[in-house]
Amino acid sequence: MLESMRIVGGKPLIGTIKISGSKNMALPALAAGLLTEEPITLTNVPELADIKSMMELLSYIGADISQIDKNTVSICTKNVKFLEAPYDFVRKMRASILVLGALIGRFGSASVSLPGGCAIGTRGVDLHIKALEELGATISLENGYIHAQAPRDGLIGTDINFPIVTITGVENVMMAACYAKGTTRLINSPIEPEVVAFADLLNKMGADITGHGTHIITINGVEKLHGTEFLIIPDRIEAGTYAVAAAATHGEIFLENCNYDHLSGFFSLLQKTGTCCKKKDNGVLVGKAKSQETIIHSLEVETAPYPGLATDLQAQLMVLITRCNGVSSITENIFENRFMHVPELVRMGADISIHGKTAILKGVPKLGGAHVMATDLRASVSLVIAGLIAEGETVVNRLYHLNRGYEDIDEKLRKCGAILERFCV
Ligand code: EPU
Repeated sequence: MLESMRIVGGKPLIGTIKISGSKNMALPALAAGLLTEEPITLTNVPELADIKSMMELLSYIGADISQIDKNTVSICTKNVKFLEAPYDFVRKMRASILVLGALIGRFGSASVSLPGGCAIGTRGVDLHIKALEELGATISLENGYIHAQAPRDGLIGTDINFPIVTITGVENVMMAACYAKGTTRLINSPIEPEVVAFADLLNKMGADITGHGTHIITINGVEKLHGTEFLIIPDRIEAGTYAVAAAATHGEIFLENCNYDHLSGFFSLLQKTGTCCKKKDNGVLVGKAKSQETIIHSLEVETAPYPGLATDLQAQLMVLITRCNGVSSITENIFENRFMHVPELVRMGADISIHGKTAILKGVPKLGGAHVMATDLRASVSLVIAGLIAEGETVVNRLYHLNRGYEDIDEKLRKCGAILERFCV
């Protein structure tokens, strides 16, 4: 049975939303559990479908996983049974590729299904493979699987140049390089907060990593990693999403636990549209200072690696600027197929045309409720926000994408006054 969401739009969202732990930091953190036979305990892990998928994959590999409470998970990989990630896991969630670096690092061997394409683009893993080869691994591609084998004496540290910034690519290689002999330098590394926090976690496990937060990460190989406890950082994409919801509905939301610094560029963009974003103790207050009639100013923006506009916030921001005064544009530079929300927003009355990588938006005074189809995680939530600002009723179909990345979204929005309900068709 497929789930849908019915939303009655037009109400400003007012209240407090507690930001959950970051999905995109929790996923590599769980995979890092494979790097040591001692338990690692992660707190502030969001309860999401993608997290569940990663835990299922780790269980298959042989991890002993204890769900201590809703958001605390302990993983012990003392008794690993299979050094592989089968197709059924990787098909469901691309981030399954993260077990590749961890398994080859600790055990010297791994087989992981190739992820193939996904809704937002082709998303190759060629850079993951090339980097592991540069560390000395022998890689073969057979029957849709990546088979990776380290030399008998282990991987060997080296300089690796990434031609484009890749988050999970670098996270994978960081894990493998922890056990490589000598020094590995990852040049053109991402500086996303999730990658920095991930390096902090590995260091807490006994790794010797420096330079995270700059574009060159240096990893000196170590003999052994050990168990630890780690607090997952707040989810900046979730926080940015609710910030847009506050701005677009002309409401006011306190984003509790939101780290302002992780989103300072995004808050500057929101401020340009006329939205107030104020750093407070333990969070950020976001909202429209003035009335519904306030003119929202147009924007010309493009997605880029951090600290640029996150591709994971592009769809949400687009909903806000459908009603900006004048002509705006959004260029998507990270993924080639991440405008799937556009035809749905057009059905709701938005004036958007796509020219290659760029969407041109002509401001419209209002959106109207419609039946729309969610296509991926961020597109789904953008349609929920569109439903919240539209006149009348919106039904968002194929809602399962939303469960992959937004913990307790219905309750969080309802607490701020949203009128919405799920139903099955
Ligand atoms: N790329 C290659 N070859 C590679 C690796 C990447 O061509 O070997 C390309 C991709 O196709 C893409 C670009 O490089 O065009 C950047 O991809 P990246 O590897 O950084 O993406 P990812 O690691 O697969 C993570 C997040 C995504 C987020 C992107 C970009 C996780 C688990 N996923 O994906 O999150 O959009 O970085 O910031 O961290 C989401 O949460 O909704 C989501 C899709």
